[in-house]
Amino acid sequence: MAARGGFNSRIGFIAAAAGSAVGLGNIWKFPFEVGQGGGAAFVLVYLLLAFALGFPVMVTEIAIGRRTQKNPVGAYEALGFKNWRWLGLMGIIAGVLILSFYNVVAGWAFGYFLEMLRGHFDVGQHFGEFTQDMLRSGGYGLAFMFMTALIVSRGVSGGIERASKILMPALVIMMLGLVAYAFTLPHAMEGIKFYLLPDFSKITVPVIYRALGQAFFSLSLGMGALITYGSYVSKQENIVTSAAIITLADVGIAFLAGLMMFPFVFSQGLEPTGGPGLIFVTLPGIFASLGTGLGIIIGSVFFLLLSFAALTSTVSLLEVPVSYVVDEFKLKRPLAVWLIAGLIFLMSIPAMLANGASEFWSQFITYPGAQSATDYMTFIGHIANDSLLPLGGALIALFAAYIWKKHNLNQELEEGFPNFKGTWAEKFIDLSVSYLAPVVLIIIFILNVLDRFFGIQVF
Ligand code: PFF
Repeated sequence: MAARGGFNSRIGFIAAAAGSAVGLGNIWKFPFEVGQGGGAAFVLVYLLLAFALGFPVMVTEIAIGRRTQKNPVGAYEALGFKNWRWLGLMGIIAGVLILSFYNVVAGWAFGYFLEMLRGHFDVGQHFGEFTQDMLRSGGYGLAFMFMTALIVSRGVSGGIERASKILMPALVIMMLGLVAYAFTLPHAMEGIKFYLLPDFSKITVPVIYRALGQAFFSLSLGMGALITYGSYVSKQENIVTSAAIITLADVGIAFLAGLMMFPFVFSQGLEPTGGPGLIFVTLPGIFASLGTGLGIIIGSVFFLLLSFAALTSTVSLLEVPVSYVVDEFKLKRPLAVWLIAGLIFLMSIPAMLANGASEFWSQFITYPGAQSATDYMTFIGHIANDSLLPLGGALIALFAAYIWKKHNLNQELEEGFPNFKGTWAEKFIDLSVSYLAPVVLIIIFILNVLDRFFGIQVF
């Protein structure tokens, strides 16, 4: 344990895992997915899937990690199932793809922090130019990857644990303040209605698979990130309550982001369907409305905290391939870190060109569901977030229930939770991991692939 490093305290693990979960997925992606998915109907499906399927898969991943003390590939082997290593590898590929676009958006958030500091509130109106500017977008992306690599090269515990404990609550307090402000704006009510009053006819197959992809992405599930973090957790930890806290925190922060964004969007007369630019276009206008002085303070602190939330997520994304290479190929940690970070940075160049070069990419990226999503970043989102993560989650559940076997999973969960047997939590996790998660995740995965990539609508 000591050689691989471990979390210093119970709160340390929860802070780090919640740090992985809470990030751009909650504050950048969730609102724009809700906006494009028709509002409250999407929120409802998302909540249902996060609690019914996401939470049990999270419990399972952490348990596999703690039992084996291994990276996602080595974990299957350590349990005696060498021929399941590919599942770990699939997760690593998904994680690398995700980081290749995530880092770019994180760079935008960091760039916006600097723009806000200088009082450039009109950056929102020039979002397109901002992201097309290779020097700025690339420079911020490079800076961000560098910070991520620096932290990961020193090991996951320590600084990041301590910083998470202060900065995450700060982000929540700031968002609560912004929600209160949002409610005072004209047309706020329209935003709230859009966000909270579901129109059930909007629950379509695409809404379901997008909500599922969003839930897994937001909770950092399906690719082994939490197997990796689980491998650093002590036996005294109660995995079930930890996973419940992480799920609630993650979903709660996403929910808060929506509560803040939709009044802002409607009060400025913007379209909720604005896509990946939604927060970057909307928020600077709001900060400007606070007046220059206050706007600079609130705007820069907000984007700084957002960058920090993104950093605790990029760290977990990079940690997955790094722990694999360090464990399996015995590379020195710093060497593994810089090699992999360099590679992912190169892979992220197409995403940096995403918006500016979407016409370029559309020559190559054509499939029925591409629509306006012919930019590279959205394309990777379709493959990694919405396809590989749910598929990974289904297979992890199947593996735990039928290959590793339920009693072994339960035995691991009883460590740190001696009375687990017979509780409603045990029954619920059993039901979900054995039946609900594998079946529902595979069905939604198939519907997604057929619809998006082959243009076949079953329903
Ligand atoms: N959960 C992160 C977010 O919502 O921003 C993104 C993420 C991190 C996904 C780590 C997957 C992962 F392994």
